[in-house]
Amino acid sequence: MWTYVLLAPFSLFFAYRACNLLRNYLAARRYSVPIILLPVSFEDAWWIPLRPLFSWVERLPFNLGSWYIFTTMGWPTEDEYRTVSRLGETFVLCSPTRNTIATCYPPALQKVFGEHKNWPQPESQSQMFAFYGQNVSSTNGAEWQRHRKITARAFSEATCREAWQETVRRVKSVDFERESERTLGRVRTTFDLLAMQVLANVGFGQDIELTSVPPGHRESLMGSLGFILEHVMLTLVFNSLKAPDIMLPGILKRLKVSVAEFRLYMKEAVLRHMQASKTKTDQPGRTSLLEAMVKANEAEKQQLQKTTSRPSYLTESELYGNIFVFNLAGYETTASTLTFALPYLAAHPETQDWVIEEVDRYYVQRSTDDEYENTYPKLVRCLAVMHETLRLASPAPLLVRSPNEPTELPVSTSDGPTTVTVDPGTLVGGNFYGAHLSSRWGPDAETFDPKRFVSISSAGEERVAVPEGPMYCPWIFGTRVCPGKKFSQVEFVALIAQIMSEWKIDVLRLEGEDEQVARGRLMGVLKEKYFNISTHLKRPEDAGVRFVRRRRAHV
Ligand code: HEM
Repeated sequence: MWTYVLLAPFSLFFAYRACNLLRNYLAARRYSVPIILLPVSFEDAWWIPLRPLFSWVERLPFNLGSWYIFTTMGWPTEDEYRTVSRLGETFVLCSPTRNTIATCYPPALQKVFGEHKNWPQPESQSQMFAFYGQNVSSTNGAEWQRHRKITARAFSEATCREAWQETVRRVKSVDFERESERTLGRVRTTFDLLAMQVLANVGFGQDIELTSVPPGHRESLMGSLGFILEHVMLTLVFNSLKAPDIMLPGILKRLKVSVAEFRLYMKEAVLRHMQASKTKTDQPGRTSLLEAMVKANEAEKQQLQKTTSRPSYLTESELYGNIFVFNLAGYETTASTLTFALPYLAAHPETQDWVIEEVDRYYVQRSTDDEYENTYPKLVRCLAVMHETLRLASPAPLLVRSPNEPTELPVSTSDGPTTVTVDPGTLVGGNFYGAHLSSRWGPDAETFDPKRFVSISSAGEERVAVPEGPMYCPWIFGTRVCPGKKFSQVEFVALIAQIMSEWKIDVLRLEGEDEQVARGRLMGVLKEKYFNISTHLKRPEDAGVRFVRRRRAHV
């Protein structure tokens, strides 16, 4: 009797989901593209903590567990081009929750991400990172415009100059001499700290020790943000649980502490800024992102007092929401790109020599005046390394959108191109690994070759050549393009140029290991990636790089 009582809710749950799966399958059939059936979706919040317990299903015979990979938001990071080469550029992930049309077909990407008004982010995704307040990433339509207008003012050429100088200063302070051999895990922590230092200083005017715990705090800034980002998916569960602390599992208790700690750091940064702005006279050229954001917000408030229009400034919680999302979007993306770029260069010594040639020509000889303005635009090859790294290891694998009303979508089918009508509630996911590794790039699409991003102008000068259209779009494009695009490019180029001006990067070899074998092993480790807010390696301790001194520091 009790067995029936206990099993009844589960049976009802499974029956309900089976009915939904059938309904969604029938709806998916009318798209005339291949369908992958999934018992759970990456949108099911309850599945997130359970998912690691089911990793064994992937090892089941006869591909019985092939669905498992698609049950995490960033599945293209692991899947790369495999499913696209098997099923084509468009297919449907059909789950009991809803259907997701996954596509890397350029006309579809152009439509969905180019016409963002008609294709907003679905709430289930946009609200994921809004636990400090609504922000530029969590809003759509007029609300998004309001956030974007204020936050975008934070990105200027002066900010880029700051990013350049701060990156160079921070790289110089890393002791590659003492710790010349680093596993890829250690490379990641080095760049995690460096990217955070640059963002904290240029973004939030905080030149503070990031890894120690200051008085009044329970965690360091780096510790609290790191923990939130590592477990950010759990915040979905955390936000829906209203249970008292004592009933929460240890990991959620810690997450609660980290969320509170980071809120305190944000409050302190805003307060410090407010106090400083009362005492100091404006210093031209030294404006943090936070300062620019708060200033723009204050200006909006003043403007509002003169008019009767609707509020255009940010509320306090929205300000924190934006500060958090800038940290989220601006730190891990850059750190992960840097972590992949150096080992790629180590495994491709000819490409590294090609980059060093440029660095020696333009960076080592640079003058200190207007260093950013004069030198950055010349470092074409360094920027090409960033593009190629992002093509192969993008931190944004799948972005989803859903139309407000039934909307036409171009799709590629086995019978050729056509259009289908997508109903509200159905997701369309831009599969960016599919686009970036597409055979449209040629037979060497999977090879690391930054030269593909460089062309020669009619005057014989090298310049960055990025393919037209959404075949390559790591920062996406259109009005909702990443506002930190230039900032991240400047930071990346400054870092590569500064490191390469003094160091050469070799593959870390095992005892008695041949150079070619070591390079193959390194590339094998780089291939095994997964997504958690950005791209991570599954086995970062199984390969590494060695910094070999080329010349003394440039002064
Ligand atoms: C390699 C570096 C970076 C990459 C590949 C990247 C990529 C992206 C992508 C793909 C989006 C669109 C997300 C979506 O629409 O769902 C985005 C949005 C955003 N990024 Fe970046 N990003 C990078 C660095 C940065 C940096 C350094 C900052 C800030 C300091 C930043 C701030 C933002 C913000 C605030 C948004 C939301 C914009 C909006 O929705 O209007 N990003 N980024």
